[in-house]
Amino acid sequence: MSRLKKLADDLYYVGVNDRHTHLFENMVPLPHGISYNSYIILDEKTALVDTVEISFSEQFIEKILQVLDGRKLDYLIVNHMEPDHSGSLKMIRREFPDVKIVGNAKTFNMIEGYFGIKENLLEVKDGDTLSLGKHNLQFYLTPMVHWPETMMTYDTTSNTLFSGDAFGSFRALDGGVLDTELVIDIYWAEMYRYYASVVGKYGAPVQKALQKLSHLKIDMICSTHGPVWTEKIPEAVAVFDKLSRYEGDNGVVIAYGSMYGNTEQMAEIVASYLSDFGIKNIIVHNLSKSDASSVLRDIFKYKGLIIGSPTYCNELYPKVLDLVNKLETRGVKNRIFGCFGSYTWAGVSTKELEAFAHKMNWEVCASSVEGKMAVNRERFSELKQLAMEMASKLK
Ligand code: FEO
Repeated sequence: MSRLKKLADDLYYVGVNDRHTHLFENMVPLPHGISYNSYIILDEKTALVDTVEISFSEQFIEKILQVLDGRKLDYLIVNHMEPDHSGSLKMIRREFPDVKIVGNAKTFNMIEGYFGIKENLLEVKDGDTLSLGKHNLQFYLTPMVHWPETMMTYDTTSNTLFSGDAFGSFRALDGGVLDTELVIDIYWAEMYRYYASVVGKYGAPVQKALQKLSHLKIDMICSTHGPVWTEKIPEAVAVFDKLSRYEGDNGVVIAYGSMYGNTEQMAEIVASYLSDFGIKNIIVHNLSKSDASSVLRDIFKYKGLIIGSPTYCNELYPKVLDLVNKLETRGVKNRIFGCFGSYTWAGVSTKELEAFAHKMNWEVCASSVEGKMAVNRERFSELKQLAMEMASKLK
């Protein structure tokens, strides 16, 4: 048996916490877990909003049966088809054979493709409404937040937005579900990491969705991951707005690869000079140790980025190349960029990094530093120059 959470009149939380999975999408670490959120609206008709990852189906269905308490399930609203939310869809159809599945044309293409389900579907288009009795639902198509079929469902009666992945966060829900029940400050960093890892490529669609929803009065946001937002709605929306505009705070991330410590020494020196020039927010990542999702989180957070790389097989060090590819995939914009590197017989890393930064249309510091073998006195003054240029551009 699970304990049920009632969020508001007629609204129940039936999501689950995943404290088992190590890697989200088999890539991104989950040190504090994750929640797969799902909700039931109890009205003259009953509606389930999204499902949960398949390995939690049994616990999930048991919760739903408790909430329904003998009533039938009339609708399953599918806002997002990624399997962390649609995984239990087939089980729901088995348990409730008459349930009508609500989605858009793209949703149904995926439901057929993943589950072979073609019947008892209710297709909605942008702006369509569905009455459950007292509660009226309105559907907003928000493609690429974060798949092509994604939509959001707005309860016009209670001003509740079921937002799919938008405004979501890593980290399981420890006891509470509403933001007012949780120590919310520990969720923001996980929201940044979630955005940068999962949604980061889709800044323009997120901006479009925010515009589309801007006229709505919203009292509660029920995302598919993390806290349900009430009091902290402005803060949660502001995080997604800021990140999707690729707007960085004043600060510098120094991300480096290093085989034998020479490039690493340059990272420490440039960080120290940045501090001398008054930069407080400095985050240094050894790319062979820091997880990519944490590096991306910080790069999304701060405007300044300095990358250091040894030359390796006549190109960038593999860990640096991986980061560069991830940044390019996400189309990160508006960064101030500097670079440094080291080599033993032929140096290409700073040229490669500069070319990458120009391709990204970033503002590039002229003072790249490339050192042959060990760090010497000359490197100190060059690294100081790089730090000074970065600090002055940030001011
Ligand atoms: Fe949480 Fe895009 O799925």
